[in-house]
Amino acid sequence: MACRVVVFISGRGSNLKALLENQESFEVVCVLSNKPEAEGLEYAREHRVPTFTVSKKEAGSIGAQKEKLYEHALSLEPEFVLLAGYMQIVEPEFIDELPGRILNVHPSLLPKFPGLNPHKQALEAGEQEHGCTVHVVTKEVDAGPIIAQAKVEVRPDDTEESLAARVLKVEHQVYPTVLNSFGRIGSFIFLDRTN
Ligand code: GRF
Repeated sequence: MACRVVVFISGRGSNLKALLENQESFEVVCVLSNKPEAEGLEYAREHRVPTFTVSKKEAGSIGAQKEKLYEHALSLEPEFVLLAGYMQIVEPEFIDELPGRILNVHPSLLPKFPGLNPHKQALEAGEQEHGCTVHVVTKEVDAGPIIAQAKVEVRPDDTEESLAARVLKVEHQVYPTVLNSFGRIGSFIFLDRTN
């Protein structure tokens, strides 16, 4: 039986697309978004995967919006919640509901360059290699246990855009690979000893 996952997005959704196109031992059962206009929702529709969106305006406040999104995600009893370009901080209450089972892909070799503008940070630091990280989401942003990383070279003529594009390519490989291997193993238990 495929491992059930839900995916949270806020925008373009290229990682969602890669996940949808590489479902071997996992199944995306719903795509949720805090942005009803998120471009990436189109990929869910193309793959006939249900979507669920709530804007801040519809909900009345960010708190109520998050609550509605979390409630829907939990009602689907997913094995994993995948953040894929989801631009909202995940509340601790939701993390506590699914300990070790909310994952994120971040475009840097964590613990280097957490947070915003990681490509800019990598270029400014003069890094020779950069990449992406799939990690467990914990209460501290971009600081949870690392599951997998993929590296790319930084070229002398790189701009933020060219570097971001090279990193994005490996994100599209590593995120589905992680999920397919968890799906094959059958289960994955992570104990967060930091909280
Ligand atoms: C990706 O670089 C991801 O690592 C970061 O936000 C970007 C989202 O891109 N968290 P997309 O929406 O998946 O195309």
